[in-house]
Amino acid sequence: MAFTKNILCIGAGYVGGPTMAMIAHKCPEYKVTVVDINAGRIAAWNSDALPIFEPGLLEIVGHARNKNLFFSTEIASHIAEADIIFVSVNTPTKTFGEGSGKAADLQYWEKTAREIVKASQSDKIIVEKSTLPVRTAEALERILNANDKNIHFEVVSNPEFLAEGTAISDLRHPDRVLIGSHETKAGLAARTIICDIYAHWVPREKIITSNLWSAELSKLAANAFLAQKISSINSISALCEKTEANVSEVARAIGADSRIGGKFLKASVGFGGSCFKKDIMNLVYICESYGLHEVAKYWSSVIAINEYQEHRFVKAMLTAMFNTVATKRIAIFGFAFKADTGDTRESPAIYIAQRLLEERAVVVVSDPQALQNARVDLKNAPGALEFVDDPYRAAAGAHAIAVCTEWELYKTLDYKKIFASMEKPAFVFDGRNILDHAALFEIGFNVFPIGKGALKHF
Ligand SMILES: NC(=O)c1ccc[n+]([C@@H]2O[C@H](COP(=O)([O-])OP(=O)(O)OC[C@H]3O[C@@H](n4cnc5c(N)ncnc54)[C@H](O)[C@@H]3O)[C@@H](O)[C@H]2O)c1
Repeated sequence: MAFTKNILCIGAGYVGGPTMAMIAHKCPEYKVTVVDINAGRIAAWNSDALPIFEPGLLEIVGHARNKNLFFSTEIASHIAEADIIFVSVNTPTKTFGEGSGKAADLQYWEKTAREIVKASQSDKIIVEKSTLPVRTAEALERILNANDKNIHFEVVSNPEFLAEGTAISDLRHPDRVLIGSHETKAGLAARTIICDIYAHWVPREKIITSNLWSAELSKLAANAFLAQKISSINSISALCEKTEANVSEVARAIGADSRIGGKFLKASVGFGGSCFKKDIMNLVYICESYGLHEVAKYWSSVIAINEYQEHRFVKAMLTAMFNTVATKRIAIFGFAFKADTGDTRESPAIYIAQRLLEERAVVVVSDPQALQNARVDLKNAPGALEFVDDPYRAAAGAHAIAVCTEWELYKTLDYKKIFASMEKPAFVFDGRNILDHAALFEIGFNVFPIGKGALKHF
């Protein structure tokens, strides 16, 4: 079959891989190719051991791979043949120089733009899929259109709102797809072409269009609002612990107000993931660079509360365990930043494990999907550290369990058996409020939830 469009995605990560798999699955008349400089990642995409864990992803990839979905390291030749290029490379926080710790590191983006210019022989639509500072497209267009080949590149912003762990259902049934473009003739034409891709399966009323800058900023703002909601309930959880209010009851009461909404109101040890912190820091940096210091300060506080929550969690463990955890075995249940992913980027469990190691605890990390990443994250952490798949083995001989990821698995374990295998007094610190605290207390555990009174036998 002759394909009607050639779509390329540069960057085969958590966003590029699943997004392109869904486009290929839903648009069999398009050829979709995903390229990356990381040959190992591409080899994994071409195997059944995909480089990322995401429920439902293997089925979607399997359906389209080698029919109209291809993974390759041949970047230049695929750029040359593409009509539309999605760029989904990483945009981490800068760790050096001007803006270090806040600004987005755009070196991968700029390199990609230059590769596109070099390999192109015809006009193309370039789609910003990565999350970028507002007005990045302006710089990008300058680089792209400063070519002497008489090629025109039209830049469109199509930020991705999928959440890891639910990426496939988010892609299949998105709340909205956002497409921003210049409001010129060429810009609007490119916008229509990108809208038509999504219209294969997304209802038209859910495809929102805007100018380029609104689209770029909306992604940063969306992540900042989501993280703000978590920090808001987490700040209230600290007050609950002081006042015998119960954060779950408070969340239910306030979430019933449709103006607030019930989602993202689960108190926890804090948010993680590659995006929230990075995108808020980026927003803060942009605000500062426009002289909007009060706005920058407001959004910085979302990060400050998140760090406070992680810190509070470790402090509560220390206080409860008689002010010392030295030589005590502590099982960390869950290392991924959330359930149903193996991703550990910015996971609160990293900080918690490191702090416990500093306190000379024996830390045993358990997780059904994230142990490989956990090993990398903690490779330089000094002290006694073990990685154990099986939660029962992880908890055996431990003084405490710290639940850091809300995996379903942890709700259904045999805690009587676990209690019997642990040192006494045995503690559970439920950093996700997912366990049956009364039942654990009944078994004999001392239970420390987030934002609720502790259940103690002493
Ligand atoms: N992870 C998420 O849940 C999520 C959600 C929405 C948006 N985003 C945004 O999407 C972007 C990508 O995120 P991710 O999580 O997929 O990142 P990732 O690190 O998993 O993947 C990025 C990939 O780009 C590749 N790459 C870098 N430079 C390249 C180049 N010059 N040529 C070819 N490949 C190159 C890397 O090798 C890597 O495999 C980021 O801007 C992120 O903020 C991420």
